[in-house]
Amino acid sequence: MVKAWYMDEDTMSDQRLEHHRSPPEFISLEELYSRTGVEYFNLNVDTYASDGVLDALKKERGYTYEDEIICSKECLPNYEEKLKTFYKEHLHTDEEIRFVLDGSGYFDVRDGSDQWIRIAVSAGDMIIIPAGIYHRFTLDTKNFIKAKRFFIGEPVWLPYNRPADDMACRQQYLNKLTQGFVTAR
Ligand SMILES: [Fe+2]
Repeated sequence: MVKAWYMDEDTMSDQRLEHHRSPPEFISLEELYSRTGVEYFNLNVDTYASDGVLDALKKERGYTYEDEIICSKECLPNYEEKLKTFYKEHLHTDEEIRFVLDGSGYFDVRDGSDQWIRIAVSAGDMIIIPAGIYHRFTLDTKNFIKAKRFFIGEPVWLPYNRPADDMACRQQYLNKLTQGFVTAR
C-alpha cells in the first residue's frame, strides 16, 4: 500500500534509502493530490485482468497504449548508472502512469513550495504523475520493480531535465496548482 512523506535534505547517502525527515512527516493521499495533483488508484494484482477496474480506468482516461517493464540489476545493463539517470529531476509533456505489479520503488515529486515528497509504491499501486510536474524515480534497497506503463496514443517517454520552466506543460501545471487540483479535477 502506498505511503508518502516529505524527504530529508540528505543528498549524500544512497537514494534508495527512505530519506525520512526527523521526525517523519507523512502525508495522506488527499494531501498528496491537493499539493501536487498526483492521483492514486489501488488495484488488485491478482484479478486486475478480469475484474474490470483497470479496464474502466483505461476507458475513462483514454489510455490506448500499455506495456510492461522490469527494473532490476539483472534486467538493466549499467544498473547503477541507470539509477542515477532515473533520479535526475525532470518533467514530461504527458502524464506518467505506472501500475506496480511486483516489487517496489519511490516516485519523488515536488510540491508547490519545491519540497520533495517521496511516494513509496508496491504491488497494486497505480499512480498518475501529471504533465509538467518536476519528479524523479528510484528503485529502493530491494532493487526490483515490475510495472505496467500506460499512455494516451503513441507513447513519448522523453524527459526534460530541470530547468524546463518555459514549457507550455509546465505553465499549465502551475496554473492548475494555483487554482487547486480539487476544483480543477
Ligand atoms: Fe518521469
